[in-house]
Formats: sequence, C-alpha cells, structure tokens
Amino acid sequence: MNKQHPIGIFDSGMGGLTVAHAVSHLLPEEQLIYFGDSAHLPYGDKSAATIQAYSIKICDVLLQKGCKVILIACNSASAAAYELIKAYVGSKALVINVIDPVVEYLVSNFSKKKIGLIGTKQTVGSGVYEYQVKLKDSSIQIGSLATPLLVPMIEEGFHRNEISEAIIEEYLSSETLEAIEALILGCTHYPLIKQKVTKYYAENVEVIDSSEIVAATLKKVLGENDLLIKKRSKPNEFLVSDITPSFEAATGLFFGTKVPLTLHKLWE
Ligand code: DGL
Repeated sequence: MNKQHPIGIFDSGMGGLTVAHAVSHLLPEEQLIYFGDSAHLPYGDKSAATIQAYSIKICDVLLQKGCKVILIACNSASAAAYELIKAYVGSKALVINVIDPVVEYLVSNFSKKKIGLIGTKQTVGSGVYEYQVKLKDSSIQIGSLATPLLVPMIEEGFHRNEISEAIIEEYLSSETLEAIEALILGCTHYPLIKQKVTKYYAENVEVIDSSEIVAATLKKVLGENDLLIKKRSKPNEFLVSDITPSFEAATGLFFGTKVPLTLHKLWE
C-alpha cells in the first residue's frame, strides 16, 4: 500500500457522498475516488447475495485504481458484504465499514443504556448492529426500526418540507424506539434529516451521525498504518455506474456542492 494512493469510497448511489463529504472535510489533502452504483440502487431492499455481487465488482474498480483503503460508505453494503469484501481484498487495501466505528462509539459511551437504530430493511434485517454490540457489551439494548420511506423522501427533496416531519414523527414514535438514550442514523441519507430528528427529541436523545464517526476512524486507521499524506497531487474522482441529470443534481444535496460524475459501467 502506497500512501500517495487514493481513498476509495463506495455506496449504492449518491447518498454515500455524505460520508465522502465528512472525509474530505477531515482529510482535505487526501485524494478520493468515489463510486456510486447508481445503476443498481437502492441496495436497501435487495438480498445480501445481490449486494455482495455488486460490492465485489466495485472493489475491483477501486483496486484497479490503486486505492490504499476501501471505505464502504453504504450501511446496507456494510451489513451484507463487509466480511466478504475483507476476504476478497486481502492485503491489497485496508477495508473500513460504517458500522464498526459506531459500535465502538456505543460501547464506549452507552453501557447499560437503550439505543435506537433506524436504517434500510437490509441493514435492520441483518441484525448486524445488535450482534456486534452484544459481542462487546451485552448490557446495551438496541431497538431497531426499518424506515424505508426516508430514502425516497430525502431523494425527492421532501426532507425540507413539513410533510417530512409527519413521516419522521410516525417512525420515531414507534414502540421499538421508546425510552432510548441515543439514536443511530444508520443510513447514508439520514444526516440530511439530523436536525429534524434532533428537534423531534427536543435534544434529549443523542442523534448519532455515523458519517462523522467513520471519517474520524478512517483518519485514525490511516495514521496507524502510516498512510496519511500531507499534500495531494490529483483531484477527486466521482464515478457512477449509470448517469442521469438527477444523479448529478443529487450530488449537491449530499456533498454540499455539485460535483461532475463520470460514467463507469460495472458490466458492459
Ligand atoms: N446507501 C444505502 C444505505 O446506507 C441507502 C440507499 C439504498 O437503499 O441504496 O443503507
């Protein structure tokens, strides 16, 4: 692994740009290669086997580009494909997912507490957060709720409207999330509704934005492996497996600024 090489980040689409944004904020000198699998989104409703097949194809692209680390920005892919990706990539690159850093954070801060999790059907159905947390601290209780309406709502820009507050309230008032002390936003898209979720709880519940925690973990891991650079030589690249004007517009929503996309098909 060469420290001059880029950081690879992938997601089912544009949502992972929230993670890329947090990484570029914390590590502005690193070159990022982002891959959004826009041809196959959403991952959240797909089977683990399908997500694994797409993820491996994407890793091939990122490895060909020489990435020193592959950051799985997608919660659904982290839940379904992390172990497989790690075995596949081997020693060619470091692999980081978006779940383990949050698990570490919970274990350090919420022993004996009840925590809520919202995410896609795939992420919640996999039970991976509960499994990983219980392995480290069985006193932490997790109440998980699949909230599948939130991704399309955010992609349509409805998270800015009042209607989104009714949908958020309907989900968060579920019995499953009763008496929680913190809520994990377990999906790439949810940082965009963080303010509304925080408002719902009147700031009495810590709302955990995994993108910031993951960016901090990435920095730590690169540092430990002597892979941080001081000055980049190349610009970031944003690749997608399908391209439409609405995908390009969505980059502004998730990355803060609109970025140009390059088409890179996974299968010809
Ligand atoms: N990126 C996905 C995740 O974080 C959300 C969108 C999708 O379902 O593909 O789970």
